[in-house]
Amino acid sequence: MPRHFLTGEELDRDQLLALLERAHELKAAPGSSSALAGKSVALIFEKPSTRTRLSYEVGVTELGGHAVVLRPGEMQLSRGESIADTARILSGQVAAVGVRTGPDSLIEELAGEGSIPVFNMLTELHHPSQAIADLMTLQEAFPDRPLDELRLAYVGDGNNVARSLAIVGSIAGLDVVVASPAGYELEAEAGGERSSDPLVAVAGADAVYTDVWVSMGDEQTADARRAALAPFRIDGELLALANSGAVALHCLPAHPGEEITAEVLYGPSQKIWDQAENRRHAQKALLEWLLEVG
Ligand code: CP
Ligand code: NVA
Repeated sequence: MPRHFLTGEELDRDQLLALLERAHELKAAPGSSSALAGKSVALIFEKPSTRTRLSYEVGVTELGGHAVVLRPGEMQLSRGESIADTARILSGQVAAVGVRTGPDSLIEELAGEGSIPVFNMLTELHHPSQAIADLMTLQEAFPDRPLDELRLAYVGDGNNVARSLAIVGSIAGLDVVVASPAGYELEAEAGGERSSDPLVAVAGADAVYTDVWVSMGDEQTADARRAALAPFRIDGELLALANSGAVALHCLPAHPGEEITAEVLYGPSQKIWDQAENRRHAQKALLEWLLEVG
């Protein structure tokens, strides 16, 4: 049975911590692993991407492999070929496949029908590739404190990024609180705590995290979202209520002045641009784990 990475729950605590340790090693020595030598990895993007595309494609190259980027209009999937048949074809050509799409059911079916590892590059419900880079960034920001001694407050829409932080963060023992307005809450089952008050949520937090208010696919409800989420903007005043030395995080792309002020996005407390770079290092460690090489 191949390993998969659809929600992050495929990793237990020890595996997750080992993966993060490996990510730091790979960051220190980016060309040190040839784990994908002679192998190809398919990257299917049904939605736009800057960071995920770059970090996976460059990461595969750094591991000595070849990345094949596929878009829906270029695949017979868009003309009705089944997911099951697509999974069979992919399994015969590449060592693993990453997918960015809407429905989680699509990657679940691909994983169920194929014989190669499938990894989630963002779905409507999950973004675990982001969460592993976020945990790595927290470890860098707080080198003397293990993840299970840190508290992260996510302030904003209870979306895919919030869910993956709650799920993957909880596996690592990170204390995660998600603060959202009514109608935009993250379900309790994802793990961590919930709050309806950003001021309460950030008290005692070592990291304050947010994401866009209008995710890909949410464009039709953009006005209602902006109105409901306006009190959940991360600005200097909110960040000042967190622990001293707290860092600001954002998965990007950002909308300065909307979910985060420019002062925080480009300010001295942010680790946001490190997060974006760490995508590559964490995902390289993930690819090694998925293929059981390295
Ligand atoms: N954070 C993230 O996944 O960015 P992209 O949408 O640019 O890939
Ligand atoms: N929640 C956002 C994340 C983008 C990286 C979205 O799904 O569009």
